[in-house]
Formats: sequence, structure tokens, C-alpha cells
Amino acid sequence: MSSYEEIRPRELKPALLELDGISRASVEAHYKLYEGYVNKRNEILGKLAAADTSSANQIYSEIRGLKVELSFALGGIKNHEVYFEHLGGDGGPATGAMADLIKRDFGSFDAWRADLKATGMAGRGWAWTAYDWDEGRLFNYVGDTQNTYPIWNATPLVALDVYEHAYFLDFQTDRAGYIEKFFDNLDWTVVNDWISKYQIPLK
Ligand SMILES: [Fe+2]
Repeated sequence: MSSYEEIRPRELKPALLELDGISRASVEAHYKLYEGYVNKRNEILGKLAAADTSSANQIYSEIRGLKVELSFALGGIKNHEVYFEHLGGDGGPATGAMADLIKRDFGSFDAWRADLKATGMAGRGWAWTAYDWDEGRLFNYVGDTQNTYPIWNATPLVALDVYEHAYFLDFQTDRAGYIEKFFDNLDWTVVNDWISKYQIPLK
């Protein structure tokens, strides 16, 4: 089987412990869950390296179990790395390149915000604003678990975690209130750095 390197959790930025309306206790507990996804990714890849490929079977087999759950672990890593990295800012209307993309593809910042909020209310775990390289535009996609339903060849620029672990401590069942605070803590500089790094075209 393929070889792999163990990865380590990315460190939490200090600003994540001082968010507006999302408590330090909530973020610290949330970060522990993220560390769990990293550990399980390493464990699964270790087991895959030694797994018996000759018994692979679509009903049940070791390979199937490991590969299916690898997608859950990797989703937990990638989604949370976007989530944690782009919080810690001052929120407000998007700036720079992201402001231009949002205006082009949603009409206005408020329309984008309302659509992402609705998508977050409709999802069981995630909502993402992603740039689809085939369609050449931003869209707000819904997610349930970490590994449903990301779209191939699309790059997430905003990842809104709506699993209850993200907000129950601070907001109980008030998911809408949590989503409002999520917007208030977005760091548009980080999102614009990604647009630049990924060379997402602005035309
Ligand atoms: Fe989460």
C-alpha cells in the first residue's frame, strides 16, 4: 500500500481564544475534536498500509471500512482548518477580492450572507462558500457530516461549522444566533490571502 507521513494538528491562533460571542471554552473543546481527526487520519493511514488488499469487498472489508472513515477524518481536518484559520477577525462586509467575487456572484454582500446563513440552517454539519473551478463562480454548498457533500474541483473559502459542538455551549439550540456571531468574527484578510494563493481569477 501507499506510504504516508504522519501530520500534526495546526496550532490554534491566539485570537481564536478571544472571539466575540464564541467562548474560549467552546473553542478549546472544539479544537480537541479537530486534534482527534488528525490522530485518526494518522491511525487509519497506518492501518491501510498494512491492510489486506486481496479481501477488498464492497459490502464489508477492512479496506472499505478504513477508506470510508478516512474520508470522515480528512473532512474533519480540512473543514476545521478552514474554520479556525478564517476566524479571529472583525467581521463586517467582505473586503478586497472576496468582496468583488461576492458582488459578482451573489449581487451583494447581504445576499451572500443571507444565503450562507440559510444554507447553514439547512445543513446538519456544514455550509461552505466555495469557488467552483469548472463553473467559474462562488456558490454556497450544504454539508451534513464532514464528508457529505463536498464538490470536486471546488475550493472552500468560507467554512461554517454548524455541528452542535460548535455552538451549544454558548448558544444552546440557537443556531441562528451562533451564525450571526460567526459572521462577526470572520477575518477577510485570511480569505483574500487564499484567493491570491490559489490564483482564483477575479474576472
Ligand atoms: Fe466542528
